[in-house]
Amino acid sequence: MKKINLKEDHLQIYKRENSNVWQIKIKLPHKKALRISSRTKVLEDAKNIALHKYNFFIKERKNIDKNSEKNFQYKKIHLIESKNLKKNEIECFLIESNKYIKFNKQNIKKSNLLKGRTVFNLFFEDSTRTRTSFEVAAKRLGADLINVALKDSSINKGETLFDTMTTINSMDPDVLIVRHPEEGISKKISKIVKACVINAGDGSHEHPTQALLDALTIKKKFGSFAKLKIAICGDILHSRVAKSNIEILSTLGAKINIIGPKTLIPKDIQQPNIKIYNNMKAGLKNCDIVMMLRIQKERIVGKHITNEKEYFNKFGLDYKKLGYAKKQAFVMHPGPMNRGVEIDSKLADDVTRSLIQEQVSMGVAIRMACLEILINNKDKYGS
Ligand code: NCD
Repeated sequence: MKKINLKEDHLQIYKRENSNVWQIKIKLPHKKALRISSRTKVLEDAKNIALHKYNFFIKERKNIDKNSEKNFQYKKIHLIESKNLKKNEIECFLIESNKYIKFNKQNIKKSNLLKGRTVFNLFFEDSTRTRTSFEVAAKRLGADLINVALKDSSINKGETLFDTMTTINSMDPDVLIVRHPEEGISKKISKIVKACVINAGDGSHEHPTQALLDALTIKKKFGSFAKLKIAICGDILHSRVAKSNIEILSTLGAKINIIGPKTLIPKDIQQPNIKIYNNMKAGLKNCDIVMMLRIQKERIVGKHITNEKEYFNKFGLDYKKLGYAKKQAFVMHPGPMNRGVEIDSKLADDVTRSLIQEQVSMGVAIRMACLEILINNKDKYGS
């Protein structure tokens, strides 16, 4: 192949073996290469066209950079674990979500911010809430979202999963949103793909966007975290929502009471601002928020709870037990709920006490912010 460098590696013209027409390749640092045809066979003409295109491209790029590439506090390309998030990084997501809370109240909810970007929803486990929340977020920002239902496919673990990821990677996606029953899978995937990876739940490990949306819901209600006491109740052992919330809410300065039966509390939660209780009355005292968790039946191996009625009597939240918390305490639940098992149905639907619907709205706003921030960071720092 004939090749001439015009601006070192950044601008080249070349001819393919089977063609007489000069091709142009423009490659700026940290940006994808752009290949276009000069449509001429004459070398001097091709050089002029290439230089003209290059100058135009540089000017355009500068305008785009100026308008769309912001300096966010969060500078990583993936969002996988809450335990790696610093306070200012969490705040960055919360602050950026504010404009989307307003945006989502408009009649026309469509922006071009992520036009031409490709986002894949890769869900290896059932999900309605999280999957649609990401879908709505991506589409409102103008991105193309592809839903890949992988739960029932033959691809489940090990080699084949990584083959699937390599295949999808070759389609040049911008973001992969991954939910999988195996802990740590998003991290492994992030090491082999060029796209940003968002962990939308990996086994009982982490679910950072759920905890971010919970933090946003709390921030909207209370303004700050420093004086708050938040109870997280139920099946802590199997809940990725609990793990991510413990990290994020304690980093933001809230005090946390973990409440549940001994068999459903992991042995290794020991942090200065976390207290553990096996009794709702003692654990809910002085709490501003009562966050209930679903009993993760699909992850419970062996007998952790005796029967559901007994569980509800001891650890299910109803108006009586909510009375142990502060007078104006609010109720949260990530959904889906087991009504009558961990939460009383009437209380769950009582909009004067329950923030459950608000959590869903905040979920869309926070995921819009996550997509914007990660894609911006990838353009800026990814190679
Ligand atoms: C949670 C999940 O999948 O971990 N749900 C959610 O993301 N909305 C909680 C749960 O399944 O109990």
